[in-house]
Amino acid sequence: MADAGFIKVAQVSEIRPGEMIAVEVGSEQVLLVNVDGTIHAIDDICSHAYASLSEGDLRGDEVECPLHGGAFSCITGAPTNPPANESLRVYSVQIEGDDILVAPPID
Ligand code: FES
Repeated sequence: MADAGFIKVAQVSEIRPGEMIAVEVGSEQVLLVNVDGTIHAIDDICSHAYASLSEGDLRGDEVECPLHGGAFSCITGAPTNPPANESLRVYSVQIEGDDILVAPPID
């Protein structure tokens, strides 16, 4: 059974390696990314201005923002290219069978 606080948001089979999708976790928009078979979850909304990173480009473990070209690590949420300079939040991920479960961030 899932740990407390985790909710099912998608299925592993929906996101192949090198792909990403945006989902909602409570009131948050979260980006799920498959990096070499491991699912990572970070904020979908760019920390620089308002843009959905799911509409950007994924290169390896970095996602590039579609608006100004800022980039972030999908694993740590850290900015890797300006003008992005604030980290994205990272969400805890659990896999149960084909289900992807994510916990809301602790504010
Ligand atoms: S909104 Fe993402 S880099 Fe500006």
